[in-house]
Formats: sequence, structure tokens, C-alpha cells
Amino acid sequence: MTKPADIIRPDVLSMTTYAVPDATGFVKLDAMENPYTLPEPLAARLGEVLAGVALNRYPLPRPAALGDKLKAVMGAPSGADVLLGNGSDELISMIAVACAKPGAKLLAPTPGFVMYQMSAKFAQLEFVGVPHRADLTLDVEAMLAAIAEHKPAIVYLPYPNNPTGTLYSDADIERVVAAATGSLVVIDEAYQPFAQKSWIGRVLDYDNVVVMRTVSKLGLAGIRLGYLVGARAWLDEFDKVRPPYNVNVLTQAAAEFILDHVDVLEAQAAELRAERAKLAQAVGALPGATVFPSAANFLLVRVPDADAAFRALLNAKVLVKNVGKMHPLLSNCLRLTVGAPGENAQMLAVLQQALN
Ligand SMILES: Cc1ncc(COP(=O)(O)O)c(C=O)c1O
Repeated sequence: MTKPADIIRPDVLSMTTYAVPDATGFVKLDAMENPYTLPEPLAARLGEVLAGVALNRYPLPRPAALGDKLKAVMGAPSGADVLLGNGSDELISMIAVACAKPGAKLLAPTPGFVMYQMSAKFAQLEFVGVPHRADLTLDVEAMLAAIAEHKPAIVYLPYPNNPTGTLYSDADIERVVAAATGSLVVIDEAYQPFAQKSWIGRVLDYDNVVVMRTVSKLGLAGIRLGYLVGARAWLDEFDKVRPPYNVNVLTQAAAEFILDHVDVLEAQAAELRAERAKLAQAVGALPGATVFPSAANFLLVRVPDADAAFRALLNAKVLVKNVGKMHPLLSNCLRLTVGAPGENAQMLAVLQQALN
């Protein structure tokens, strides 16, 4: 009898599945989603657009019209190319697979987005994590030293970072890009709507930089659409390992339609930025709580006992992310997604009780 254990890679056998908790009935502040849906008239028109989509046909593998619209709306240089992914998660996987020469390494600041390390594991690249400083800012000297020592194929620079919310300085990024002459530097701008800073306009100024974006945090997490912007020479290589038809027809049609109304999503992001400021001040005033500066739609907060605070929130049906065990630099930290005002008030009330 053949068992999975006889066939599957030992490192895969020892992995655990990416856990997504069931949030039914909870105030959901754990996954950096936009709490707002589309306004009803726009949703109705989207419904009409989607009803007209030919579900019997495969999608275009690299839809030029959608790529051009993304470039125009997001301010990419006209000479840049675009590659679409089923979320930026898929692009992260494709980059790792394409670069996985024997002995190749992937380097990223830690704590950081878990999929960088996972993509390295899946593609059998060695992951090199470079710890942030204790205040969770980028340790640029350590980054330069690690790049010189490990000569990584891929360097990730999240701009800003998850789960810390830190926005690295442009001067630090310039130093990393200049030092990483033998690497591809991927600037991950998943949280750009909340940071309002971008390298997308500069992406062609360097031969070793690509910029990654997603529509997830802007309010379209459900359609799964990420995109990579950069020189054709890079993107054509990643395209070779793209699963065929990776972005489905409904996603393509929805994105094309909603990009014509991106002002609606940008207004929602502006509200969330205002809410972030209010929430940071309120949480920071709670006894024992330290809020780290955030350029994203979440706050990283250190409390005296993160497990107890997390349990109190769970009991009150408020779901946040307990990142306290993820990395030593995050001990007793919770990551709180910024929600709608009512949701934030509910979370704040429970936290206040838990910390008093
Ligand atoms: C820094 C960062 N990059 C990329 C992603 C993946 O985004 P998606 O796959 O939804 O496009 C996330 C998701 O949380 C993230 O935090």
C-alpha cells in the first residue's frame, strides 16, 4: 500500500497548513481587510458586468487591457511591464520557483510577511531572516552585511512591513538596492493605500528592482488579484512559471470595472487612515499598551499579557491576530486591523477592560 509519507517530501510532511480561523459571528480584525463593501448602486452595476462574462471560456493569460489600466491607475511608468497573480501570494511563489537554483537564498527582514519564508521553503531556497532593531525599524547595517555574506537571489523589502507596520526610509531602501547588485529586490507595496508612498514610479530606474502590489487591502481581498510591475526582462521569466489561466474571468472583469471607480476605494482607504490615527491614540492611552508607528491598515501593539488580552477579545467575539509567539521581537504583541468605527470601538472597549 502506498502512503503519502512514502511519497511526499519530508519537509512538506512536517509542515502545517496555513491556518485561517473561522470568523463567523466575530468582529473580524485579524486579516487587514477593508471593512467596507461597494456602495449598492456600484455593486449592482458590477453584477450586471459579471452577468455578461463568458464563463465557458478560459481567461486571457496576460490580459493587456487590465494590465494597462492597472499601470495607469497606479502610476507605473509606461515602459514598465505588468504580471498578474492570483493574489500577490501567487507572485511570491512564482518568484521563488523561478529563482530556485541549487543553493539560492531568499533574504528578508524579520519579523515579516510569512509567505516570503514559506515560498522559500516550498521552492527549497534557503531563507535568511535579518532581524529588525528592537524598535522594529530596519537594521540597514545588518541588511547590508547579510547581503554581502549570503549573496541572496531575492531580497524582499516590504513597504510598509507586515506585521510591524513599519515604513522603511527611502534612504535605507536606496542603500539596500545599491548593495544588492547580485540580487533581485522585490519592493512589496501591499499596504500602499495606507502608506501613500510608492517606488512604482522609480521601478525602471534600477535593473534589480520590481514592485509588487495587490488590490486586497484596497477592498478587494475576495477577488484575489496581485500584480508585479517592472522591466519586461524580469517579468517574462516569472511568466514562464505562472500557472496557466491563473487569474479567472470574473476577477479580470471585476477589476477592470472597479478600477474605473477606484475613487470609491480610495475614499474608504482615507477613512481607514483617519481611523488608524484615532485608534492608535486611544490604544496608546490604555494602561501598559505600546503602539508601534504604522503606515498600514493595522496597528502592532505590545501589552503586558498578549495571550490574556487575545482571549478576552475572543470571548467578546472580536478576532485579532496574536503575533506574540511569531518572533522574539514581537513578544506580547497583538496585530489589530483597523476596522469601521463601530468595530474599533467594540475592540477598544474589550481591550480597555482587559488591560485595567
Ligand atoms: C506584506 C504583504 N504582502 C503580500 C500579501 C499578500 O496579499 P494578497 O495575496 O492578498 O495579494 C500580504 C497579505 O497579508 C502582506 O501582508
